Amino acid sequence: MSGTPSNTIRACVDWATLQFENSNVYFGHGCDNPRDEAIWATMHVAGLMDREYEQVADLSLDGKLRASVAQLIRQRIESRKPLAYLIGEAWFAGHPFFIDERAIVPRSHFSDLIQDGFGPWISPHQLHRALDLCCGSGCIALALALAFPQLQVDAADIDSAALQVAEVNIERYRLNGRINVIQSDLFAGLAKEKYDLIICNPPYIAMSLIDQLPDEYLHEPRHAFAGGSDGLKFVRQILAQAERYLTDNGTLLIELGDNADALENAYPHVPFLWLTSRSGQSVVMLLSRQDLETHRDQLN
Ligand SMILES: C[S@@+](CC[C@H](N)C(=O)[O-])C[C@H]1O[C@@H](n2cnc3c(N)ncnc32)[C@H](O)[C@@H]1O
Repeated sequence: MSGTPSNTIRACVDWATLQFENSNVYFGHGCDNPRDEAIWATMHVAGLMDREYEQVADLSLDGKLRASVAQLIRQRIESRKPLAYLIGEAWFAGHPFFIDERAIVPRSHFSDLIQDGFGPWISPHQLHRALDLCCGSGCIALALALAFPQLQVDAADIDSAALQVAEVNIERYRLNGRINVIQSDLFAGLAKEKYDLIICNPPYIAMSLIDQLPDEYLHEPRHAFAGGSDGLKFVRQILAQAERYLTDNGTLLIELGDNADALENAYPHVPFLWLTSRSGQSVVMLLSRQDLETHRDQLN
């Protein structure tokens, strides 16, 4: 760490960016580069997260706030804790969510897809009931409920501590009437409901890669990303069981990270449709209930 930030928001951001660039901090828990994370930290301290950065960049920050920015940046660099945990807030699909170390930091690729109304793949007006499987902090369930006002959502996770975080967020948005939280080992604890949409960001990091993850991941619950020997442990179970929980026209969406090739190799005859999000990445696969039925023998 060198010096202290001078008095505008822009100067604070430039200073913080430099500190990050000269550190070994990893970016990937809500931001993917030093400048965006510097903007996030500074705007959070300034209480300006509801404003566009360029509109406020030349405002002054008083000495106390500048010291708070400096302390937050120092903490981020020294602890290697994701910024979201340090400030208790993460942004997902354009909304702020409470977060702490009981649940993984929201950063799913479903953010863009939800904001784009799943177009052109799914017609949102056909969605009435959805299941967010492996819901963690509840960010996907909440983003769905906020984007599609007619939707009822079940949010399920095996981890009661993560579900406590989801409850805080559901309460914050007063969505208790539309989001139902369920503790469940995948589908095992669910009633025999049928859903128009099952959406899932499961644990999908292969065991051999876990020890190579940056230190930031050490602050997150390991069972939130550990996906068994090849990363597909949970995906296989979901593919085998999802059909019976989907309506006739229902759709299954699963996020797979870098495992798209592994999945294609594991099921060479299943016609996975890979959805490309705004970022240009194709890490979410779609199968219809009809696809699951047609390929049931290969998926079981
Ligand atoms: C990658 S995180 C996704 C969390 C959240 N949906 C998000 O996108 O931020 C995976 C979640 O799966 C949960 N999980 C792990 N094993 C599970 C299981 N057998 N059944 C249900 N949830 C499980 C973890 O507790 C974790 O919250």
